[in-house]
Amino acid sequence: MKKIITYGTFDLFHEGHRRLLERAKALGDYLIVGVTTQHFDESRGKVNVVDSIMERIENVKNTGFVDEIIVEDHDGQKIEDIQKYGIDTFAIGSDWKGTFDYLEDFCNVVYLERTPYISSTIIRKKTFK
Ligand code: CTP
Repeated sequence: MKKIITYGTFDLFHEGHRRLLERAKALGDYLIVGVTTQHFDESRGKVNVVDSIMERIENVKNTGFVDEIIVEDHDGQKIEDIQKYGIDTFAIGSDWKGTFDYLEDFCNVVYLERTPYISSTIIRKKTFK
């Protein structure tokens, strides 16, 4: 069984998120998604997340593409998870191109083309002017 993992905040869940998860799932048989805690996001400078972690998890789950959801709450967790869950492929959007090449020591790394013209940031700006 081919296991895929991806990570994200998934705030104000949108079509770009849905398409990312659909294509990540299609890379293998079993998709694990790491959803970030508010504390972890704040520690990396993402301070304006709107949805609670429970809402973000629920939205990821409701896509129907995801087999297991975990929580990402610290630096260095990706390598731990890849080893713990026996991951074959790490997938992430192309806005991260190059950033996760270091994971190639542990599994395949795939950058999926980001869906243009949509992001949580754009929705936050439109909704909360
Ligand atoms: N993603 C995507 N296409 C988009 C937006 C996001 O493929 N238009 C992907 C990201 O590349 C990442 C995953 O969805 O792999 C989760 O991204 P996240 O950072 O939660 O969403 P963004 O909309 O990019 O959020 P923000 O604007 O806050 O950075």
